Amino acid sequence: MSTKEKVLELLAAAPEGMSGERLARNLGVSRAAVWKAVRALKARGCEIEGVTNRGYRLLRGADELSAELISAGCGLPAEVFAALPSTNIVARERAAQGAAHGTIIVANTQSSGRGRRGRSFVSGGLGVYMTVVLRPRIQGAGAALITTAAAVAVREAVLEVCGKDCAIKWVNDLYLGGKKVCGILTEAVSEVESGEIRSMVVGIGVNFRGVAADFPPELREKAGFVLEPGEGEAQRNELIARIASRLLERAEQLESREFMEEYRANSLVLGRRIEFVRGGRTYVATAVDIDDDGGLRILRDDGVRETINAGEISVKI
Ligand code: BTN
Repeated sequence: MSTKEKVLELLAAAPEGMSGERLARNLGVSRAAVWKAVRALKARGCEIEGVTNRGYRLLRGADELSAELISAGCGLPAEVFAALPSTNIVARERAAQGAAHGTIIVANTQSSGRGRRGRSFVSGGLGVYMTVVLRPRIQGAGAALITTAAAVAVREAVLEVCGKDCAIKWVNDLYLGGKKVCGILTEAVSEVESGEIRSMVVGIGVNFRGVAADFPPELREKAGFVLEPGEGEAQRNELIARIASRLLERAEQLESREFMEEYRANSLVLGRRIEFVRGGRTYVATAVDIDDDGGLRILRDDGVRETINAGEISVKI
């Protein structure tokens, strides 16, 4: 058992709280080690009150993942893993084995989280790393909009469960207070024999709760968390269930494009100055609109109007 787990066990058995000194003595470690363990427990979602002269008191246990609670919250099959290289990989395997529409794969942490454009998605603090298997009824351009629909679904779920109003950065990143708090990676799974795309996996990573120090130094300026340690009552199981529910609802609108209104209304880029690189050249433009196929209509500074359908843009400050 780690010092962190031992501290949690002792605090759980002492409802009136326990001093740092007594914890340290009981465990045969330094008070600094106790403080570090308490900090790590808070990052895991434990509510621990620090009381002057009385030490620490456990107000709420850890935010542990539970497949039962997730399924109870959304009525969908869920599998939870303590650690995985990537939930997308397992979800693809499950999809190939015939997993049902809406099957959810969740991991407490990922060792090789995958991002778009071959990038990685780092697990930091307390995170939500989930992938949902979808078997959309439509194919083609409409189906490609699933990522756009997913951004709307995750935004709604975060607002409902955590009370935080994120903005959507084209194409599908969620931002809060100028920092990225969620990324989405959709992958198509084609059938081995026919090559037909029968299912898709939508991988969603939410930096749920933590502090900047939970990320490696190079990410601290760019990535943020939805909640600070100790903030609010939200738990990951509830958020995961809500994300999956909203995603399945929005996935029914791929033809009608109903979600596009929400997408535009909460866009971080519309009306803003943006920059993008193409063929080694940097373009500066104003983001004018987002069409019903998810394309970004821009007016370049050189006077040219065009619609960008893929790629990466940065928003100029
Ligand atoms: C991005 O921002 O580029 C997309 C990040 C997607 C991360 C999620 S976390 C759950 C799922 N499993 C992965 O390996 N990636 C996605």
